Amino acid sequence: MTVQIDHALEEIRRFRPSPEFAANAVADAGLAEAAQADRLGFWADQSRELLQWEKPFTKTLDWSNPPFAKWFEDGELNVAVNCLDRHVEAGNGDRVALHWVGEPGDTRDITYAELTDEVKRAANVLTELGVGSGDRVAIYLPMIPEAVVSMLAVARIGAIHSVVFGGFSADSLASRIDDAEASLVITADGGYRKGKVFPLKPVVDEAIGKSVAGSVKNVLVVRRGENEVAWNDRDLWWHDTVGAASNEHEAESFEAEHPLFILYTSGTTGKPKGILHTSGGYLTQAAFTHKNVFDLHPETDVYWCTADIGWITGHSYVVYGPLANGATQVLYEGTPDTPHPGRWWEIIEKYRVSIFYTAPTAIRSFMKAGRHIPQAFNLRSLRLLGSVGEPINPEAWIWYRHVIGGGSIPVVDTWWQTETGAIMISALPGITDLKPGSAQVAIPGVSIDILSDDGTPVEGVDGGLLVVTEPWPSMLRGIWGDPERFKETYWEKFGDKYFAGDGARRDEDGDIWLLGRVDDVMNVSGHRLSTAEIESSLVAHPWTAEAAVVGAADETTGQAVVAFVILKASQAERVTDLAAASDELRKHVATQIGAIARPRQVFIVNELPKTRSGKIMRRLLRDLAEGRDIGDTTTLADTSIMQTISDQVK
Ligand code: WT7
Repeated sequence: MTVQIDHALEEIRRFRPSPEFAANAVADAGLAEAAQADRLGFWADQSRELLQWEKPFTKTLDWSNPPFAKWFEDGELNVAVNCLDRHVEAGNGDRVALHWVGEPGDTRDITYAELTDEVKRAANVLTELGVGSGDRVAIYLPMIPEAVVSMLAVARIGAIHSVVFGGFSADSLASRIDDAEASLVITADGGYRKGKVFPLKPVVDEAIGKSVAGSVKNVLVVRRGENEVAWNDRDLWWHDTVGAASNEHEAESFEAEHPLFILYTSGTTGKPKGILHTSGGYLTQAAFTHKNVFDLHPETDVYWCTADIGWITGHSYVVYGPLANGATQVLYEGTPDTPHPGRWWEIIEKYRVSIFYTAPTAIRSFMKAGRHIPQAFNLRSLRLLGSVGEPINPEAWIWYRHVIGGGSIPVVDTWWQTETGAIMISALPGITDLKPGSAQVAIPGVSIDILSDDGTPVEGVDGGLLVVTEPWPSMLRGIWGDPERFKETYWEKFGDKYFAGDGARRDEDGDIWLLGRVDDVMNVSGHRLSTAEIESSLVAHPWTAEAAVVGAADETTGQAVVAFVILKASQAERVTDLAAASDELRKHVATQIGAIARPRQVFIVNELPKTRSGKIMRRLLRDLAEGRDIGDTTTLADTSIMQTISDQVK
């Protein structure tokens, strides 16, 4: 197991919160003290304060059967009511929930009262279609208000959503539909991306054609792209059904551990894992972190998280956290540079966004494009910046703070995962002295440690493996349909401590620095990709005999997918244009999995470096892909192979 230390570990800049910020900050030092004194009592208090429980809980945590945790077990709530109705009942129905911006320039402002209404209508339609408590609904939508409405309508009736990112292929969608046996798919005709309509409904049709479970009974289609779509008996238009449905809907309450959603993420094998989250604990920690890490003042702030709802960041920090807290937020459909490279900054200026949450890969691409682009806009409304998805390098942190933030506002780097459900490590603005490049400290109520491979705590500043030592409210409750894989992946290594799969170190001040994945999971533009999944897609191509994939350092995307492929002997003779062949393979991966998985490079080679036992040594291929000297090759079955490969790659 190698821990890559590719950070400026000597980074010593510190930024103290300004006295004005600290004076008005939501979080205070009392939070950490309370959590320290009584961790479970702290979470129980937070949950009661942040959420509306229809039936109050009396038990906080049941950890008698690890790793299966139960939080707030005997309590009952409705997640959608917490995100909607209660704000209307509290007199905030006229507050804007969503300032939606479509890519072509159309906009919609939707208040909490309007959003509640729309969710009630959609909930009625779902019920009419026979969707009930515990049933799975796949959501394959662009970033339009109906995406938020769909998720909340599913939650409202106690069904389980599985949102599939709109960039995923028909194959990926089909395997997710099948794994969860979804009975309904909610999609759109198409959505806007880079100035064009990308079709979604045709992908759904193709996916249902490929589905082997045969579980889908209906497809509910939002009209957005106005592209032409084929129509089947199972299809229904959103505007015909939701548009005509009653806006009266009595919400039932569900147990705290009632499943809320499944979200698929890449692991170390070829098969994506359906990460399962439940209701009460998830919503508690999503709301707590959204409020305290982003210093939310819901009456005055305008918040914007740029993540797509297809990822966990979109679930916790576009839908559940912000809406539970009654925030006003921006929702943007398109790409950052359409129709002009300053689109994001224009939106911040227009809506006077005060809290902005995005990914380092975006920040680095803006750095590349030049500061003159954001500087053409008035960004003075911003008062807090957040980062998520991968380590933010200190140069990008400083640029973010200065060029976007005007030089004086806090930047919080938040570490968490699909599995953790909500932020786990972050500075608390107004309290923590900020340190560029470090995610810093566990949030109050979360216990993090760094262990060596054999489970002993790492002393001093050496690197080790990041673990969560105590259960936390928004923790995953399992992998859909595969309890064994759940235990094996996260809990086998260190007993009842959660193994995150990340390397980390603590500095002299106790601040945590993330050092990247320690398994065969890559991080491309803040998205998780599995080397095994891309390898099996490459091998599924008729030309391919063998494939090895590595994540190579990339200036903009953090890591990039680089593949090494051996062609079948029968093909090798026929393929004369290697560049065209490698292009074909790159395209093949994009079609099979989705554009995000398309390799930056596919090298066609004659050999792959293997140990005597036949294991591919990806470490050596990574050296090659990153242009480094090749490391230790003594364990290779044939030590001359790396020379051969490196000659071919050049
Ligand atoms: C993996 C989780 C959590 C939402 C986005 C990604 C990496 C995430 C950070 C950060 C360093 C980070 C880790 C983690 N990661 N945030 N602030 N600093 N690394 O969710 O797809 O589940 O990926 O992303 O490697 O394990 P995800």
